[in-house]
Amino acid sequence: MDEIIQNDYVALKKHYWFAKGDEVLLLQMKPYLESFADEFITEFYQFIWNFGKTAEFLKDETIITRHRGKIYEWYLDLFSGTYEISYFSKLYKIGEIHVKLGLPTHYVNAAFNFVRIFTLSRIYQQYAQEEDLTERLKAVERILDINLDVLTSSYREEEIGRFLALSRIEKTLLGLLKKTSAYFNYLLAGALVVVAFFAVGLFGYDVYLLFSRQTSIEQGILTILGSLLILWAAIELIHEETKHLRGGSFALEAFITLAIAALIRKILIFSLSPAKTMDVLLYGVLVLCLGISYWLIVQTTNPRKS
Ligand code: HEM
Repeated sequence: MDEIIQNDYVALKKHYWFAKGDEVLLLQMKPYLESFADEFITEFYQFIWNFGKTAEFLKDETIITRHRGKIYEWYLDLFSGTYEISYFSKLYKIGEIHVKLGLPTHYVNAAFNFVRIFTLSRIYQQYAQEEDLTERLKAVERILDINLDVLTSSYREEEIGRFLALSRIEKTLLGLLKKTSAYFNYLLAGALVVVAFFAVGLFGYDVYLLFSRQTSIEQGILTILGSLLILWAAIELIHEETKHLRGGSFALEAFITLAIAALIRKILIFSLSPAKTMDVLLYGVLVLCLGISYWLIVQTTNPRKS
């Protein structure tokens, strides 16, 4: 794959309209960039440290110090003015190392967003009065996008490589499995819509019991509230399933929400009968356990949600 980079780097520069003029402008700005490189490094690490699992990759002081040095070097190299085979091979190697470490590609993309905003705002501050401000900004945008392209190409190749490594039978099986799971997902979505209609029916039935005085007003209202809770959870589940069908991840927590809603409905109903105190307690413990499971799942899959 290294060879591909070596042969294609000219085309890559061309695709991004990265010309000699950009190289000259970047080199011209290098002394200015060097003046705040330390500040860049400090803010870069503050930024990537918010990713949550950064410490799992940058494990100890030795690795962090080494990485800091490498990032410093990479940042100044952006403005070296020379972008030939050796530059691109180096970038490709960085991408390969990140892939080998299992670093999420999202982390690299997000880190680049920081680099872009930080650098462009500094250049704007310094060269706002210059006529060629736009050209300077464009040159930075281009070299950053080229860098991101090469750094993430290793991720794409890893994916393609893994697919190509499969035998024909494995590929056919994989295709079949994907299709089957897609059909079952549509079936599940349909079943959930039916459940939502049942929940509407349950709500209607509870209203009927209340108005026909077959239940006391207190019990009737609590039962209606319980069925509304189930309806809400079923809608939430349909919403999550739609997201899953669009390619999102499977939302286990939505199923837990539905189970919690069903248990709360039972608690609401049983709470009116003193003979069912033990049942209420048991259901309460179950709700607590499900609540803890829900919290744990949300914490591990999406820490920002909690
Ligand atoms: C703008 C984004 C990034 C750039 C340009 C970059 C650059 C680099 C470079 C130049 C190396 C050294 C490659 C070599 O040894 O040849 C490296 C390695 C590494 N990077 Fe990054 N990196 C970026 C983002 C990140 C992020 C966000 C993390 C973690 C959250 C990370 C974790 C690592 C680790 C763990 C290594 C291996 C360090 C070692 O053991 O020496 N990098 N990266």
